[in-house]
Amino acid sequence: MSESTPKQRIGVLTSGGDAPGMNAAIRAITLAADHYGLEVIAFSHGYEGLLEKTYTLLKPSDVQHILQYSGTIIKSARSPRFKEIESAQLAARNLAELDVSALIVIGGDGSFRGAHHLNQHWDGQIIGVPGTIDNDVYGTDATIGYSTAVAIAMDALDKIRDTADAMDRVFIVEVMGRNAGFIGLKSAMAAGAERMILPELQRDKPLTIDVIVKHIKRVEDVRGPGSYVMVLSEHQWPGGAVALSEQLEAEYRMPCRPCLLGHIQRGGPPTATDRVLASELGVYAVELVLAGANGVMTATRAGQLTTVPFIDTWSKKNLLPENLLRIQHEIFNPVKKSRQRHG
Ligand code: ADP
Ligand code: F6P
Repeated sequence: MSESTPKQRIGVLTSGGDAPGMNAAIRAITLAADHYGLEVIAFSHGYEGLLEKTYTLLKPSDVQHILQYSGTIIKSARSPRFKEIESAQLAARNLAELDVSALIVIGGDGSFRGAHHLNQHWDGQIIGVPGTIDNDVYGTDATIGYSTAVAIAMDALDKIRDTADAMDRVFIVEVMGRNAGFIGLKSAMAAGAERMILPELQRDKPLTIDVIVKHIKRVEDVRGPGSYVMVLSEHQWPGGAVALSEQLEAEYRMPCRPCLLGHIQRGGPPTATDRVLASELGVYAVELVLAGANGVMTATRAGQLTTVPFIDTWSKKNLLPENLLRIQHEIFNPVKKSRQRHG
């Protein structure tokens, strides 16, 4: 390539709720692009950056030592106006003006809807990289950020257990994932929580307070007095953990405390799993650009890198693993020794 030949330019943006490991993905994309002689232009605040033309060029030196931090150095945002056709058209004009030939979108299924929307009005390539703590994206075994969120929730649950045990209390720990119970299921399992209330389990037959109280009493009956820790996915109880806790104390005289983990689940150092996943998927996204791919999300399935059409990422559902739900059901429902005799 001669000195004067302009480098092919690829765009990158992070969209939707930030997820631990997004920085590792940005780093991987920038370093891989540099390796292949491409230039990276980073749009800030998700799709808003495409509309406002707010961007910066990313060089390898800009992404040094960022993979150990959560958040995203190029900022993320939700952009409701991007759903309009005029926004996709404006973004397409801006991308053309900036000589961008391909765009890598790091985000969740909502962000891939945005990518698909843009694809209808722009002739460049778009590749997705799954980044959301919720793990609610079809077609990949894990999304970037999920492992870290589970580790944070598990750590918090372990700490809560110490104090709950010391005072024989019921604790309700509220975790993120309003539409998907992956964080709730995995952290509850990892921390040995006595109950979990997840969106998927609430849909057909929402729990009643009576069922919860009966279970708390049964666990005490079987195991003796002690702590009882419940993992509650956000938006799965009217008034959340605080209201449920107050109800248990006031109406059933159970010593109970709520604990809301909130956005703590999106911060701190990403786990090794998330850093490695983000690095793999980020580099793979650049390779896909070079291979001429378009309209697909990078994914990992059974240890293999693969792609998923954007449409599948939101039209198909990532289901909670049946085997884990079954195991949880057995663990959650202790039976009295007298009923366990066989033959
Ligand atoms: P996530 O990507 O984490 O699922 P959101 O659902 O909040 O997060 O979506 C992120 C952004 O993607 C939205 O703010 C919007 O800019 C864009 N987006 C989502 N759905 C659409 C859509 N149907 N059409 C165009 N853009 C969309
Ligand atoms: O989608 C990721 C997520 O962290 C969800 O788990 C949560 O419901 C939502 O984002 C919170 O959004 P915000 O950061 O806008 O409060």
